[in-house]
Amino acid sequence: MSRTVYVNGDYVPEEDAKISVFDRGFLFADGVYEVTSVLGGKLIDFEGHKVRLQRSLHELAMRAPVTMDELLEIHREMVRLNEIDDGLVYLQVTRGSGGDRDFVFPSDDTVPSLVLFTQSKPGITDSEASKTGIKIISIPDIRWGRRDIKTVQLLYPSMGKMMAKAAGVDDAWMVEDGFVTEGTSNNAYIVKGSKIITRHLGNEILAGITRAAVLRCAKEAQMEVEERSFTVDEAREADEAFVTSATTFVMPVVEIDGEPLGDGTPGRVARRLREIYLDESRKAAV
Ligand code: PDD
Repeated sequence: MSRTVYVNGDYVPEEDAKISVFDRGFLFADGVYEVTSVLGGKLIDFEGHKVRLQRSLHELAMRAPVTMDELLEIHREMVRLNEIDDGLVYLQVTRGSGGDRDFVFPSDDTVPSLVLFTQSKPGITDSEASKTGIKIISIPDIRWGRRDIKTVQLLYPSMGKMMAKAAGVDDAWMVEDGFVTEGTSNNAYIVKGSKIITRHLGNEILAGITRAAVLRCAKEAQMEVEERSFTVDEAREADEAFVTSATTFVMPVVEIDGEPLGDGTPGRVARRLREIYLDESRKAAV
């Protein structure tokens, strides 16, 4: 069945969706995006994604194509039209087309492009990976210096996923100056004793919306959280590890660079946090 996608004000069948070849998202990766998960037909952490989108737009001096209230309505309409129970809504805003290809940003009255589509993922919370955990390798982080902005420049993360695939594992953690930054499309954590350790925020990583919610849940459950850098060696000696993102929620990591972590099965803290996070976010879903 053809999906209905949203393009610049219209809900259209995906075959009819069109964006200019001069769109700066296509030519310069001059665009930002958000991925919001949907559980039981409702949006998870929408407020966080909205606030981060506004920040990404601000950092790149890009106009918001619609108001944030309209954006919520468009998300809801997309979920409704595509009958999404469990899945996600992908949103992308680009600086639009300035006419010719030109490195210089076009004038302020250039209309930004707004595209949304959905992906259905029935049973997403019960994925096999969430039960067995995932295996990761470490790779150098050679991305640009503003990873705090959620841009569509995802070539290196894609290459990272391919390096992981070639190594027969699920994903990769990126390492810069000896310290883990984040996963290719998620935030990275280790657990030592009962302490949860994850890199502090900064330009080096994306401030995950799931990260914020999970750390809030952890603190509410009286778990200790330390926001600091850690090395791959420290991770390999940790009791457990996990990643978070809008598409994986809390996903246990059971192997790093070919070495099993702990007993090689999902850790207690990761499993508990996944449960709490899913419970809490379903309750707060809109
Ligand atoms: N990726 N770090 C990076 C580099 C990411 O791409 C993502 C999300 C995260 C986690 O952010 P959040 O918790 O807000 O999803 C961290 C999305 C899911 C994607 O590109 O598909």
